[in-house]
Amino acid sequence: MGAVSAGLLVTVGLALPAAAQPARSGEATAPAAGAASAPTSAPASAPASALATAPTSAPTAALASAPAATPAAAPDEGLALTPPMGFNNWNSTHCRAEFNEAMVKGIADIFVAKGLKDAGYQYVNLDDCWALPQRGADGKLVPDPVRFPNGIKAVADYVHSKGLKIGIYTSAGTKTCNSAGFPGALGHEKSDARQFADWGIDYLKYDNCNNQGVDARQRYRTMRDALKAAAETTGRPIVYSICEWGENKPWEWAGELGQLWRTTGDISDSWGSMLSIAKQNLPLARYAGPGRWNDPDMLEVGNGGMTDSEYRSHFSLWSIMAAPLLIGTDLRKATAETYGILGNREVIAVDQDPLGKQGTVVSSEDGRWVIAKEMADGSRAVALFNETDRPRHIATSATGVGLPGATAYRLRDLWAHQDYHTAGAIAATVPAHGTVLYRVSADARWASYPPAAELGLDGTALTEAGGTARIETALTDLGRTPAHQVSVRLTGPEGWRIKATSPARAASLPTGSRLATRWQVTAPAGVAPGGYELTVSADYRSPEGTGATAQLVSAIHVVVAPPSGTSYASDLPWLSALNGWGPVEKDTSVGENAAGDGHPLTLGGTTYAKGLGVHAPSEVTYYTGGRCSRFTAQVGVDDEKGTAGTVAFEVWADETKVASSGTLTNADPATALTAAIGGADTVRLVVTDGGDGITSDHGDWADAAFTC
Ligand code: GLA
Repeated sequence: MGAVSAGLLVTVGLALPAAAQPARSGEATAPAAGAASAPTSAPASAPASALATAPTSAPTAALASAPAATPAAAPDEGLALTPPMGFNNWNSTHCRAEFNEAMVKGIADIFVAKGLKDAGYQYVNLDDCWALPQRGADGKLVPDPVRFPNGIKAVADYVHSKGLKIGIYTSAGTKTCNSAGFPGALGHEKSDARQFADWGIDYLKYDNCNNQGVDARQRYRTMRDALKAAAETTGRPIVYSICEWGENKPWEWAGELGQLWRTTGDISDSWGSMLSIAKQNLPLARYAGPGRWNDPDMLEVGNGGMTDSEYRSHFSLWSIMAAPLLIGTDLRKATAETYGILGNREVIAVDQDPLGKQGTVVSSEDGRWVIAKEMADGSRAVALFNETDRPRHIATSATGVGLPGATAYRLRDLWAHQDYHTAGAIAATVPAHGTVLYRVSADARWASYPPAAELGLDGTALTEAGGTARIETALTDLGRTPAHQVSVRLTGPEGWRIKATSPARAASLPTGSRLATRWQVTAPAGVAPGGYELTVSADYRSPEGTGATAQLVSAIHVVVAPPSGTSYASDLPWLSALNGWGPVEKDTSVGENAAGDGHPLTLGGTTYAKGLGVHAPSEVTYYTGGRCSRFTAQVGVDDEKGTAGTVAFEVWADETKVASSGTLTNADPATALTAAIGGADTVRLVVTDGGDGITSDHGDWADAAFTC
């Protein structure tokens, strides 16, 4: 069992949990949401990682909670001056029976009891399935008497009695999106808007299904006019949420009509879905502002399909994008971690900043994102977001995010609730799928905070059982002042031997310098293949003696080399697998939802018994241990997508791209791909979206095989 020498870091358990996803997946335009499947609580697999926590008990700064929207004189002026915050049942219940009066009241109670109301959450919103399929004889909408035995007005009164507001849903078509066929408002706009206002509704989500081809601007304008007229009569302004999934570029026109507009298809409770939606919403920053928000869909935080670390990324991204924060989990069953994420007031303050700017992308390279948001007080919120499946160094600078030149800056970590100072570098080694969120300001009191330090980890994090991995850690002082009495530790599971082979202590680290430490990490003989947690921690002091710590949780993977000869990829265990929709499938195409729901791999009319079925964006990584010479496959878009789908295939040997297919569509026949992978410790099979979004991107690695 030899040592593994590659310089690649791979973290554990990266296969996406097979959480339930909406039946229609990556297709932003398909309307049928159906009585969709329940979000299952898939086990959180990636390590929950945290960066930079200091031992001192600095008080959590209460940086502004959401200002309550006060009804203004003109019906729609002054509405949603900051992104709406609240709850919507859809992501947690879909159409299931648990969506009912008890749930809505329960959420309102929890908003008050758990401090979420104080944190700014205000709207309790009802989604589809609240009504009966038939209108009453008078043409009015009828609440489902089983779900809402006392009607909607009674629920609205209850929600209002808690000092909260209530929202409702319908579609700008003849029926809503659910297959049960609930009535939509097309042709009934005036009467429905008036009915909502009479009930005391404060917020309307207006969907896009069954729209009969009527022009979107016209449909959404008609309801806007109806809401306005109802508001003038009843004195009740209604926030107008436009939900046409970004189909008609609503960012270009919906600001005149409503306060927010969906920019994408539906989110689901998976890393791939959240990531793809964030990427579609980020470029739209310039269209957002007070009273006019891009809406990348509701939160999935707490629903079980992502890890808490991934949910912190989701919440950080939505906040820095000034997105509406509509909780989409059943708070009656939520964990303390979920409350900790949704209730983080410092992150909420980024979202709710009164300047109303959506954060913009400062840089994005190889899945390492820097996003910055200008804040009303002149500070910048800065997200260092790691899209990849291993820890990555992500860096920018104070002037790079638009701050004026200064001797040093205050750097506040909004998840760790700790202050540091920096000479200008804003940098962190961010765990796989993690986000470090800072608020950075030019602050004359910078010297009262300890210097910031980046704790990094590099070198191999793979070993065979009984083997030894060599790892290097580094602590870099980012402050204007030195870090004193520095000591670094690396810890792993019981039974593992960990030894520093170079100094792990330093008396003083001046600005910009680093303490690099080499480690040998030896896995116990016979340990099972899989991921194991490694934690690197550092203690240090500021020149004034203030103590600080930094911590990075990472992973080491125990691997098994493939056998000699030629093996199909689908017969070998992978190290990690990421997929845009549903899990990666062995020997079938990807079915987009649960594991095993694909079809025979088919390219250009030929079916293949062996291979991998994936959905862009996808990355499947194998351990080859330097023992394989060749990878071969027939690649293309699976025939099951008809004429849709555009993808590109790439093969990476360690950090080098060794083969690529170019962009392929369903018009292309199967393309033979051969890659020389001699000496590589890992091989990564990547499928990108071909540059046009991930809709219908079913990629097949047919006959994929390693020769070792
Ligand atoms: C559409 C919307 C979702 C949800 C469902 C309800 O899919 O985009 O957010 O409201 O309809 O059927």
